[in-house]
Amino acid sequence: MSDSDDQTVARLPQAFLDDLLDRLDIVEVIDRRVKLKKAGKNYSACCPFHDEKTPSFSVNPERQFYYCFGCGAGGNALGFVMDYERLDFREAVEGLAQSVGLEVPKDDARSGREPPKDQNKPLYESLEHASKFYEHALRQHAERHKVVNYLKGRGLTGEIARDFRIGFAPAGWDNLMQANGKDEAAQELLKKSGMLVTNDKGRTYDRFRERVVFPIQDQRGRVIAFGGRVLGDDKPKYLNSPETPVFQKSRELYGLWQARKYPRRLERIVVVEGYMDVIALAQHGIPYAVATLGTSTSETHLERLFRIVPEVVFCFDGDDAGRKAAFRGLEATLPAMQDGRQAKFLFLPEGEDPDTLVRAKGKAYLENLFDHADPLETFLFKHLEEGLDIESMDGRARFSKLAAPHLHRLPEGVFKTLMYQALADKTGIDVESLKRLQPPPAPRPDITETAPPPTMEAPPPIDPEEPPPEDFIPVDEPALEGLSPSSLNPVHRLLGLLVLKPTLVRHVPEALLVSEGSRDAVLLAEVVAHIQKYPEVTTAALLGFWFGTPEGDFLNALAGRESIEDDAGLEALCTALVEKLNRHPALDAARRQFDALKRKPYGELTQDEKQQLLSLTQEIRSLSGKN
Ligand code: UTP
Ligand code: MN
Repeated sequence: MSDSDDQTVARLPQAFLDDLLDRLDIVEVIDRRVKLKKAGKNYSACCPFHDEKTPSFSVNPERQFYYCFGCGAGGNALGFVMDYERLDFREAVEGLAQSVGLEVPKDDARSGREPPKDQNKPLYESLEHASKFYEHALRQHAERHKVVNYLKGRGLTGEIARDFRIGFAPAGWDNLMQANGKDEAAQELLKKSGMLVTNDKGRTYDRFRERVVFPIQDQRGRVIAFGGRVLGDDKPKYLNSPETPVFQKSRELYGLWQARKYPRRLERIVVVEGYMDVIALAQHGIPYAVATLGTSTSETHLERLFRIVPEVVFCFDGDDAGRKAAFRGLEATLPAMQDGRQAKFLFLPEGEDPDTLVRAKGKAYLENLFDHADPLETFLFKHLEEGLDIESMDGRARFSKLAAPHLHRLPEGVFKTLMYQALADKTGIDVESLKRLQPPPAPRPDITETAPPPTMEAPPPIDPEEPPPEDFIPVDEPALEGLSPSSLNPVHRLLGLLVLKPTLVRHVPEALLVSEGSRDAVLLAEVVAHIQKYPEVTTAALLGFWFGTPEGDFLNALAGRESIEDDAGLEALCTALVEKLNRHPALDAARRQFDALKRKPYGELTQDEKQQLLSLTQEIRSLSGKN
């Protein structure tokens, strides 16, 4: 979820979102997109978010939310439409609101919050005017033929120039400043957006002069920056806007707006190195390339891309620099490699780039290269193997040490398991030892951390009539930094239950609520407070309230893993959990004492302290229900 989306979430009044969710029926919303089959109280289907043959995707009409036991996707109707149609928050809200005859409010009605959107509005307008100025110059300026010939020489048509809004910054120090910076305010905006530069001597002039300019557009098509290329061989070849309040290089991708506008459903996106590569590929029938903007590919980039398509192909030069850039791309990709997603790596022959290749060999040739690009695992292993003798024991040991930390960064899932297996096969070291090579950071100690009682396994699929699919693999819940990884501890389970059935709140005693402490405990207090404030709140509305935040994803995962039993069962479970938590103060104290003792080297412990350690271990075990 991007920051801008968060801001969008913040801007819509909660009452409106509640109303919207209230009027929607999730079954209807999903069924219109993915055919659902009735299965007991719920509906099921093969999950549209990952590849599967037996349905593990379940929609619960009563709670108005969906969950996939295969891949962990889940949420309310709004989240479904965002993910399924690859819309941003605002777009999804608008579409859904229209379908139920609601009008989206223009402004945030909530108190004291400055609407973040309007703050940058003048900046966007200034940039849009600058783009219009350059586009106009490409059509009208006396020198336009130089640029037009240049673009033609590179094989571009007027149509593609229009689609990418290519423009011309004429020679001269102040064309843009004269045209668009008439008063001080307008000039300030041009400075703020990076279109004007001021030198040491205090002289201010246009940043882009005598260049072809490529406007960079954001997710919604707004112009946020520019790149400019010289017409000849001068240096620097490309000039880019600096970072500004509306342009962050690590978030934006050149060409993404055009790719998303393409009327057909995108299957994959190709990441290339240059502006001209993106444009030339589009010109030759490959409208799904994007370029990073003079930075390496970031995790944000990858998250964004994988929300749009399941496959990302990195296409880089075959030289050293290209390989390095590709490996940085790989590193950014690892945390995003959820099951069902694919990343591939393609290296072009020396001296070629996608632009020259597509012009020489055409679309089919390039698409064939994309099809056969190295999958992530191949590139990762090949790259790390370089310079090592994998036949020798020492080489294998070194190789596993290099590779294991990368595998640790993969999200839990089948792919990760397979990768460890592949590394084990290659090195002859068993999977468990590989996992220990560099253990992930230990979970933060908090009251909820004690090991789960062994009886609480991953819950069965929501509907008992639907047997668990054969390939069902319990997935760890989506990572939420700082939250302890076990979903089976009492606080987590309680959170899940409250989301499913908010009225259970009456079983949660005040004593359990804290405003400081572990994030889990605080979240519990917040959820309880929210339900107390809105006693009628539904599951969907609760999820809607935390929508787009890590907490929202987390709550969603927790709720999804609770099997929906009859009400009596839920209440009993809730009471049992509360009782367990009530015993925690003692447990907490015992654990603190235990941890303090354990910090001392064992050899320095007195006989008494050793005895104490032993009894504390037993106490903790019995308090946490393990005996
Ligand atoms: P390349 O040097 O590979 O150029 O830069 P290219 O894309 O093949 O350019 P053409 O085909 O000669 O027009 C790749 C990318 O690196 C950034 C730009 O984003 C460019 O698209 N770059 C390159 C700069 O920012 N500044 C430069 O001086 C050169
Ligand atoms: Mn090129």
